[in-house]
Amino acid sequence: MNRITVSAPGKLMLLGEHAVVYGHPCLVTAVGQRMYVSISNVKSQISNVKKIRIDAPGEKIFGYEKPMEDIGKGEISKGVRFIEIAVRNFREKYPFDVGLTITTRSEFSSQFGFGSSSAAMVCTIKALAELFSIKLSKKQIFDLAYKTVLDIQGKGSGFDVAAAVYGGTLYFVTGWKKIQPLVVGHLPLVVGYSGVKADTVTLINQVAEKAKKYPDIVENIYKQIARIVDIAKIALVKKDWTMLGELMNINQGYLEALGVSTGKLSAMIYACRSEGAYGAKLSGAGGGDCIIALSPKENITKVKKAIKKVGGQVIDIEVNAEGVRME
Ligand code: MEV
Repeated sequence: MNRITVSAPGKLMLLGEHAVVYGHPCLVTAVGQRMYVSISNVKSQISNVKKIRIDAPGEKIFGYEKPMEDIGKGEISKGVRFIEIAVRNFREKYPFDVGLTITTRSEFSSQFGFGSSSAAMVCTIKALAELFSIKLSKKQIFDLAYKTVLDIQGKGSGFDVAAAVYGGTLYFVTGWKKIQPLVVGHLPLVVGYSGVKADTVTLINQVAEKAKKYPDIVENIYKQIARIVDIAKIALVKKDWTMLGELMNINQGYLEALGVSTGKLSAMIYACRSEGAYGAKLSGAGGGDCIIALSPKENITKVKKAIKKVGGQVIDIEVNAEGVRME
């Protein structure tokens, strides 16, 4: 029996969410909290039926089993969907004939919106490639993982997959157009969790409804967000925090206009701004999950306190984490 363990980072959207789904750029950073996936091959199984077994304690899934021939078919438990479909897609491309046991361990809650499913899926593909001695480039891992996202949810830019594969901080354009690593050092970011789990696909659909009703208005919002991202990219690389903070605030205004902010998110954002943050915005799909605030060092303690005062939870993160790797 061979056992391979791989890890990949979670992600935080910095600027550009929603517009990125429609071909505009975004900025994303990989966070220090990682997802770990261990895979072993099981050559001889007593019944001779080759099976997949998945244990994902973070999703409260223990002993999920299926015959290999049935993966991707029938009922698929939500907490393992990305792993199961990733295995199916890998096996279709690189056939193998053994059973597998897969175990995940996460350093962050799947509630935060840090992209635990994408990170687990990327780890699964990398671990399978290692297990079967198939050399896959980062681009090939990205392609297979992004195909898996589209197979499952039909929508999504793949920015979270790019962060898990490449790590660092990226300027990303969907449709295989651009994954550009940026040279960025420490980012003085504070993250606040709203306590509400958001469903990305639901929020993408809500915005799509708005776009159907007001096509030119929403298209213009996307264009403005794209412009913000392009200027923010320069501010980020130059470490012009004042400008980056202002751009985050403007981006938040457009996200409010798209209807994806919530009272809780806005309360955290305003609390951070009034305690001296350069800027603050929601991060990700909206509807819940997290906000990010960029803050001068001397105000970080006050900003964190402000998040807690309005009922948010502060999550300490490191940015620019390494992409998928063998453990
Ligand atoms: C969700 O974290 C960010 C969205 O832009 C969706 C996506 O890019 O896949 C709303």
